[in-house]
Amino acid sequence: MESRHNLLQRRPTLWTAVVLVILQLALSCWMCTVDALQTGYYAATCPNAEAIIRAAMERGMQEDSGTAPGVLRLHFHDCFVDGCDGSVLLDGPRSEKTASPNLTLRGYEVIDAAKADLELACSGIVSCADILAYAARDAVVLTGGLGWAVEAGRLDGRVSDAGRAFAEIPDPSFSSAQLAAVFARKGLTTSDMIVLSGAHSIGRAHCDSVKTRLYPVQDPNLREPLAAELRSGCPQQGGSATFSLDSTPNQFDNAYYIDVVNGRGIMRSDQALFDDPSTRTETMFNSLGAAPWAFRFGQIMVKMGQVGVKTGPDGEIRRNCRFVNTPI
Ligand code: HEM
Repeated sequence: MESRHNLLQRRPTLWTAVVLVILQLALSCWMCTVDALQTGYYAATCPNAEAIIRAAMERGMQEDSGTAPGVLRLHFHDCFVDGCDGSVLLDGPRSEKTASPNLTLRGYEVIDAAKADLELACSGIVSCADILAYAARDAVVLTGGLGWAVEAGRLDGRVSDAGRAFAEIPDPSFSSAQLAAVFARKGLTTSDMIVLSGAHSIGRAHCDSVKTRLYPVQDPNLREPLAAELRSGCPQQGGSATFSLDSTPNQFDNAYYIDVVNGRGIMRSDQALFDDPSTRTETMFNSLGAAPWAFRFGQIMVKMGQVGVKTGPDGEIRRNCRFVNTPI
């Protein structure tokens, strides 16, 4: 047995170790407040930021109920192309918004309105990337979904390239495995992908997003009567019909999963979640448990909001979300 004398002798070493650990923790915590995103990020510098964005979203919703789905999708398309850095908002002849997967994005005006109000309240403080993250949460809440604490502290990027958007945004013709691979590149799991696909609880799809299910050969997993509905709105040439992504397109709920389980997933990528055995069980689980899915949705939105965040010299706080402050 160790003698009391030996223990006393070892005490200084023990204390040194304890002090070192405390110092290390303090240092890493200091670094995390510098580098990482935080909730309540603007509490001191722009205390009304969240309220200002929420008010802009409410006004936007009064004018057009498509504001909520539009903004939620904008945040996703922002994060998947060079990280959540507001690059999807930049104007320009070859910017992301000109890429084919982005041509039906909507909601830019409400982000402009929020930014204008924020610049009046606290100029040069709130990034466009953060506005998108807050507004996406508000979109869910304003359509009846569960909110979450949004992390902020992103900087806006200075680059927006259509080719990058084309390469990174998943296609509605994708299988579960292809979707999972795209999400994995962003550090998100297959389960995260299934949970976030529930965003298709609100909004719409255009003919271009369903046509590959109809022509030249009909998708064998596309069943009647949905097949007839899609065909009648979308002839092989042209067609400007839009289709609600689930049976309650203005309500953020788990009806999307119930529809998919019943063979009414609008896009191939939606229906794949149930038809592919690798994603079926969790899709069914989400169709049965509205509350657990809604809770997880918020958690995974926070995770998506961390993708490729710019916090160093490669970013800035844009004055206007459509333009970089100083072109490079
Ligand atoms: C899993 C892979 C995904 C694919 C393949 C996909 C693809 C699409 C497509 C093609 C549309 C319809 C565009 C149109 O025709 O107008 C759409 C709509 C939408 N997507 Fe996704 N999406 C995916 C994941 C997500 C995620 C993760 C979110 C958000 C977190 C999201 C949010 C939305 C919303 C809200 C709409 C409706 C937009 C509106 O009504 O304006 N999607 N998506």
